Amino acid sequence: MAREQVIAVTGASRGIGAAIALELARRGHRVGCLTRNGRGIEREGVDARLAEHLVPVTCDVEDEASVKRAFADLAARAGRIDGLVNNAGLHLHGKSAALPTAEYERVMNVNARSVFVCAREIYPHLEKTGGTIVNIGSFFDKLGVKRNLAYCASKAAVGAITRCLAVEWAAQKIRVLDVAPGYIATELNAEAMKGPLAEFLRQRVPVGGPGGAIEVARLVALLFSEDLPFLTGETIYIDGAQGMAH
Ligand SMILES: NC(=O)c1ccc[n+]([C@@H]2O[C@H](COP(=O)([O-])OP(=O)(O)OC[C@H]3O[C@@H](n4cnc5c(N)ncnc54)[C@H](OP(=O)(O)O)[C@@H]3O)[C@@H](O)[C@H]2O)c1
Repeated sequence: MAREQVIAVTGASRGIGAAIALELARRGHRVGCLTRNGRGIEREGVDARLAEHLVPVTCDVEDEASVKRAFADLAARAGRIDGLVNNAGLHLHGKSAALPTAEYERVMNVNARSVFVCAREIYPHLEKTGGTIVNIGSFFDKLGVKRNLAYCASKAAVGAITRCLAVEWAAQKIRVLDVAPGYIATELNAEAMKGPLAEFLRQRVPVGGPGGAIEVARLVALLFSEDLPFLTGETIYIDGAQGMAH
């Protein structure tokens, strides 16, 4: 299990996806960095030795043909595929009473339908050898959050898809897991994290504030490294205990 694996990561251009791709590369895996523009991780100063482990691949997770092409491309260039991290995601918020159907569908498509489509399209690559699929959910999957109806519904669907695939594909030795983060500080929300949100999180998160993308990345990497065939179908929360705090 700890052998070098070929792992596709969707939404690897930035944020949590980039952190996951870099951490997997640091541990010796070959990482297909699936991004919409095909440029891979968009960050200055990626260590040259890590860059050798990264394979940039073009993929729009909303487009089924693009997903199919991306996995075929990665398999051709890396020789095989052993795993997938469904990380690409979109967060839109707005009052439910005025939420346009198109916005609801877009969030469901990027966050949930893509998890099903990517899993289905990677299945032929894993069917004979087994493998690991990690879906990135959210602790919002079990919460009622104002102005977040579509996002919460999409992440609840990620948990359900994870459970169904884990049960259905266990015989093929394909493990499917949902890693569900709480508030994570990234480049994108760096400004917001300095404002009133920082005080809110200081009070609400039992460990005292947001987590880092590197922590999510380490958890995902651990799931690829350790030999844990009995662990499948679960949603693993990494939220500083916020989701369970009274
Ligand atoms: N940050 C948090 O606090 C937090 C908490 C819980 C869960 N999460 C989840 O963690 C994941 C990553 O979040 P993040 O904070 O790192 O977000 P982010 O910085 O906004 O990055 C989102 C990534 O998804 C990609 N993406 C969006 N739509 C796509 C599409 N149609 N096809 C392919 N890629 C697409 C983006 O690619 P482009 O560069 O092409 O736009 C980008 O790489 C998401 O699933 C999110 O829901 C985040």
